[in-house]
Amino acid sequence: MASKKKQSGSQSAIFPGSFDPLTNGHLDIIERTLSIFDKIILAILNHPEKRSLFSVSEREALIRAETKRFGRRVVVKSFSGLLVDFAKEVRSNVIIRGLRAISDYDYEAQMALMNKGLYSDIETLFLIAREDNSYISSSIVKQVALLGGDISKFVPSEVNRAVRAKVRERKR
Ligand code: PNS
Repeated sequence: MASKKKQSGSQSAIFPGSFDPLTNGHLDIIERTLSIFDKIILAILNHPEKRSLFSVSEREALIRAETKRFGRRVVVKSFSGLLVDFAKEVRSNVIIRGLRAISDYDYEAQMALMNKGLYSDIETLFLIAREDNSYISSSIVKQVALLGGDISKFVPSEVNRAVRAKVRERKR
């Protein structure tokens, strides 16, 4: 079978998401992606209609701080519009997504197939979340924090501090 010509920049993979906020689950996917790819591009969706806890620039700053140890192998960007257009812009044809439970499958398969339908060169690769991260999501972590629960086991320490500050701000 003729092999497809490698696209320049194909050693990088895009990890898209809302990251509102970054969790230990995301960090695990980032680390594991870096064991396969040279570079990971964290693509934060800029979704002005969606009510988020952190602004895109706050999320960017938190992710940069938490991934500093990986140096230039982690690039943090935001995007709006179609993910495949962003992929073309950054010249990467790999999308990474984490899969926790089977309940993630329908949504993830729909997105992967739609992205493939829009841009046939794109490939979505799924990494199965580690067992101890399989119940963590940004939305559940936010909910627990807003209800006064301790989220320190589920998010990096800087994120925990930032979430607690936001919760205090909201209560004022
Ligand atoms: O972490 P999330 O919120 O589940 O991430 C969802 C994300 C950002 C990957 C998804 O909403 C997305 O790619 N949005 C961009 C719009 C797009 O390209 N839509 C068509 C493919 S479904």
